[in-house]
Parts: sequence; C-alpha cells; structure tokens
Amino acid sequence: MNKSLRKVVIAGNWKMNKNVEETKLLLTEIKEKLPKTDATILICVPAINIETAMNTVIGTNINIGAQNCHWEKSGAFTGEISADMLKSFGVEYAIVGHSERRQYFGETDETVNKRAIACLHNNIHPVICVGENLSERENNITETVIKTQIEKALTDFTKDDIINSIIAYEPIWAIGTGKTASAQQAEDVCKFIRNILTEIFDNETAQAVTIQYGGSMNAKNARELLSMENIDGGLIGGASLNADDFANIVSCAE
Ligand code: 13P
Repeated sequence: MNKSLRKVVIAGNWKMNKNVEETKLLLTEIKEKLPKTDATILICVPAINIETAMNTVIGTNINIGAQNCHWEKSGAFTGEISADMLKSFGVEYAIVGHSERRQYFGETDETVNKRAIACLHNNIHPVICVGENLSERENNITETVIKTQIEKALTDFTKDDIINSIIAYEPIWAIGTGKTASAQQAEDVCKFIRNILTEIFDNETAQAVTIQYGGSMNAKNARELLSMENIDGGLIGGASLNADDFANIVSCAE
C-alpha cells in the first residue's frame, strides 16, 4: 500500500482550552470554514465538552474525540473517565500517551498500552503519541527512545489492533515551541516508526497504518510536512484553536 491509499487524519488537540460556550463558538466557526475534504477530521476536546461538541457538529464530517481515558471499565479512580464511558457517548477516537500526560501526570509506556487496549476493546481508535525530548535528540538517541515507546505501547497488539490505531509522532521539543521539526526530520522518524511496525507485524500491515506528525504544525508548514511519504496527517495543538488556521491546514491535506 502506498501513501495515497492510507487514511489521512487531520486532528486538533484542544488540550485544556475552551469552556462550553467557547466550544460551541469555535466549532461553529470551524464548520463554516472547513474546506471539502477526503481526510478524516478529528477534534479532541476536554471531556466535559464532548457532548456539546458532538451536538455542535451533527451533520458534518467532523469527529469529536477525547484526550485520554482510563483502562478500567469503572471503579475507584477519582477524576478518571473510562473508555467504556467514552464509547457510551459515541466517541470513536481518543488520544493516549500525549507527552504532556507523560510529563505532568505520570503516564508510562505501560499505562499507554493499557489505555490503548481499553480503547480498542471499546471500538475507539487510539491516537498513540510518541516522541523524544530535546536532550534525547541532541544525544542522538531518538530512534532508541521511539523504538522503546512503540514496542511497549503496542504490547499484545494484534494486526487488527494496529490497523485500528493511529500513531502520532510528536517530538517534545517541537510542541508549543514554534520550533517545527523539518519535513525531512519528521519524515525520517515516521519512516523509522513504519519500519518498527514492519518488524512487529509485517510490511502490509505497517503500510496500512496512519502515522501523524505533531509539533507546531501550522498553515505555513503543513503542506510540506503532509507531502512526505510517511506522514499521513497531523495532530495540531495551538493552530487548531483558530478556525482559519485549522481550515488552512486541512486544505493542505489535499
Ligand atoms: P502544538 O501544535 O501547539 O505544538 O501542539 C502539538 C500537540 O501537542 C498536539 O497534540
């Protein structure tokens, strides 16, 4: 399978932004500005705004996703939301293992794996985030770090599981810094990830997996990044909070 046959997914990660009213306003603006596209459009909002967001995008091609989920179905886990609960809302996508969750909330490769498996058991596509930090890049251990993150996140995955997942390569040094990886740097790691998937599964399976790039993607750099052979979409933070910018990025996916 080549790039043109893979599913392109342009996703916004709103992080901890927008209250209920602001969610309605921004999604309404995005609906109006979004160009016609064959790409899958996904917007991951704070969990408390999922219902509002879903109601606002009824009748459009915009999918609303979550930013995290817990692996247990229910129980004494104060503050957590289960994949089962997301499913009952009709959520079909959830980000797992975002570097901010790893950095600030004790997320580990092991819990990323548990969350991803819980998503898959509930027919939710996990968007599994991996990425190296600046010192890891400077010490030339990016590939070692990424390989470990991928292998651990995908423990016990079947071929169907990985095909139903999305991998997001987000170099931590490029997140929210305005410092984007060059298209070639991003392509090199996304290609490396696809090679690891070939090792774990097989080439046909690896070729079918959508791999996104995330980290200061914007309307200016999106076209070049998205044109790379192994980059099948974007996971966009800051620029997804602006309707014009998000719509422009989507138009670069064509
Ligand atoms: P920025 O686009 O703001 O750099 O954020 C990227 C990100 O973390 C998406 O998950």
